[in-house]
Formats: sequence, structure tokens, C-alpha cells
Amino acid sequence: MHAWRASLLRFDPHGQAVFDRDGLLVVGRDATGRAVVLAAGDHATLAPRHAHVPCTHLPGRILAPGFIDLHVHYPQTDVIGSPAESLLPWLERYTFPAEARFADPAHAAEVAGFFCDELLRHGVTTALAFCTSHPASVDALMAEAQRRRLRLIAGKCLQDRHSPDGVRDETEQSLIDTEALIQKWHGVDRLGYAITPRFAPTSTPAQLRGAGEIAARHPSVWIQSHVAENRDEIAWARALFPASRSYLAVYDDHGLMRRRAVYAHCIHFDDADRALMQHTGSAAAVCPTSNLFLGSGFFDFAGAARVPFAHGLASDVGGGTSFSPFATMRAAYFVGREGQTKPGLSLPPERLWWLHTAGAARALDLEGVVGNLQPGCEADFVVLDPEATPLLARRTRQAGSLAELLFALIVLGDDRVVGQTVISEAK
Ligand code: GUN
Ligand code: ZN
Repeated sequence: MHAWRASLLRFDPHGQAVFDRDGLLVVGRDATGRAVVLAAGDHATLAPRHAHVPCTHLPGRILAPGFIDLHVHYPQTDVIGSPAESLLPWLERYTFPAEARFADPAHAAEVAGFFCDELLRHGVTTALAFCTSHPASVDALMAEAQRRRLRLIAGKCLQDRHSPDGVRDETEQSLIDTEALIQKWHGVDRLGYAITPRFAPTSTPAQLRGAGEIAARHPSVWIQSHVAENRDEIAWARALFPASRSYLAVYDDHGLMRRRAVYAHCIHFDDADRALMQHTGSAAAVCPTSNLFLGSGFFDFAGAARVPFAHGLASDVGGGTSFSPFATMRAAYFVGREGQTKPGLSLPPERLWWLHTAGAARALDLEGVVGNLQPGCEADFVVLDPEATPLLARRTRQAGSLAELLFALIVLGDDRVVGQTVISEAK
């Protein structure tokens, strides 16, 4: 057992932030050997019961749940900041050539190691990640994540058409490979597998159908894809699948919408799409830095409140421009401003933070497991320094409320705020 004394941020079951200015976080092993939160709350209240537990005192620091990145591409680490007119030219010009290099396992291993270190350096302890179409790219990422005890869910891209040589796979073999990778990695330590059709335009109906059949056989496996990101992409998907009611409905028509299905972007939806997300229990990964960078559009937060469906925040590196959850929360705030329909704050800072931690865990069907620091949660957390830069120090010292403190961190923060990332580990 080990205890940490500092300010402590967590969330109640309604998503309300709970903050102890002088808090205590007690970490120990549960019956199965996992390092979990045993107690969390006010120091003065909890300390007498834990007087025997060794304690690290970090005055001035904030303990907060490790961040969850709901959608990120590790093979795109090297294409961040590659400008293009829009999504489809960007894929063709930069992304597919970069991904073709992952046929080389040594290249995949090198990038995977860098990527995992970068996640941790930015305070991300759980991620749902795309690999490439090469099965060895999954092996490389899983191995590096396992070494660092990251909670990582990832999968091999399925893309058997409209993709260049070097990344295009073959229908039957791609499904065999997916099944084998599930057997190899799903549920191993903190790893999970996600069935990963890249997006409807690059899969044949047969590949999507096969992916849906695998999903039906493995209900605890995740599903991830892209949808309704860009107008040209949507027109293309509609032309390829004219029988489906909408682009999103293509996935439903192939058995790919259910709990643990996470769709990136979900920008250009109508209310029937939102209702489909809701009824199937699917979730959206909202990727604001990517959407602004590629000019894709603005996620409709007001629409997602009107016809509620699960959603959380994601970097979408390398369409996204930063690994930093602070950059993502900041961009989400700006995007929320764009679509604002009511007076007041579109997205309060506590809500932005929840969308990148406990709310993202709910979207992954991992509520109570990660993304929070309530008793029973896996003990992944960040030690934040609200005085990491001169301006942050000056601004946060003047914060008169939790909302003001979190807003200052979201607006001014970056990796320098993350003093330490602690991964489910009991001392
Ligand atoms: N749609 C299909 N593939 C991709 C990708 O790699 N990035 C983004 N942003 N959208 C996609
Ligand atoms: Zn993506």
C-alpha cells in the first residue's frame, strides 16, 4: 500500500467534479493483484485510518485521473502537421505512404516505443489506437504498451479496397489475421483488441460483413472506425453503399454498432444518426484538433446533448496536432463555442476534463475501471504542477474556484504541467 497527499480531482457518478484541496489517495492491490484506489478523499478525514501507510506528500501538486485518448493512430506519429486541402488528399499524400512503412517490424517497433513514451509523457494512460493493416504493426504496439503497463486497446486496419499497394489487405486473410490477433492479445494484462475497419469506403461489403461476424463472436472486443468526418468522404460512402440510410447506418447494416463500438469524428450527423448511436450503445470519439486542422467541421456538442449518445475526447494524431490532452480540451472548448445555441459556457472546464477521463471511460464501457480515482478504479494518475510555467503560476495562484483553476490549466497547459504519470502500480 502507498498513499499520496496532494490536491485531488475525481468525478462522482453523475460526472460532477469532486475536489479535495488537501486530499489523500491510497493505492493498494485488490484480490486479483491489480493496483487500485483503496480510498480517496479529504486528508484530514482519511489520514487517521491510514496512519500506517507510507505517504508521499506533494504540496502544491494536483493528483488527477490519467487521461484517456479515445482515438489515435500510432503509425501517424511521423505525419503530424502535414498540411493538405482536406481529409482524402491528406490520406493519399501523407498517411498511406507513412503507413506502408509499417510492413517493416523494426520500423513499427521503433515508432511504437516512441508513441507509448509520448502518451505517458502527456499523462495519457489509456488509449484506443489504430495500427496499420500489417498484423506485425499490432504486435509491435501491444508489446511496447505491455512493457509500460499502458491500458491499450488497438487493432489491425481492415482496408481491402480503394487503398494503394502497401496498405491494402486481402478480404479473407484480413479476417483470419483479425481473429488470430484477438486470440493473441485481447485480455492479456491490460491490453484489449479492437476490430478496426478503417472506414466504409476502403472496405468491401464482404470485409465489413466478416468484421461484424467476428464482433458478434467476441462481445468483449472493441470496434473502432471513422464516420461522417468530411463531406467528400460522406458522398463517397453514400455512393458505395446506396442501400444504407446514411453513412453511419452502413456500419449498423454490417453488425458493427453496439456497446464497445467507438466511431471517430461523428460530425455531419442528423438526429436519426444520433438516435442510432444512442440505441446501439455506440460511442463517438470527438477529435477537435484534427477537425480544425483538416477543415473537417465542428462536432455538434449541442446535438449530442439533444439526442444523447456517449462521447469523449481524442487526439486523432496524426490528423490531430498534439498528443496533449490540454490541447484537445482547449480545442473542444473552441469547437463548442462555434456550435453554441444557449447563452453561458458551451462546455465548462469540469465537463471538458470529464470528457477526457471518466466520460471517455464510460464511452469505452470501462466506467469504474479507468478514468477516475474513486475506490476500485485502477490507479492510473497524473501529478500535475499548476505552476509549471511562470504564466501558469501567476494565473493559477489567482484562481478563485475549481472551475477557474481547471480553465487556466486547459487554456495554458501542456506537457510541462504533467510532472509525473503513475501507472497502476502499488508501491
Ligand atoms: N478516415 C479514414 N482513415 C483516416 C485517418 O487515418 N485519419 C482520419 N482523420 N480520418 C480517416
Ligand atoms: Zn482517425
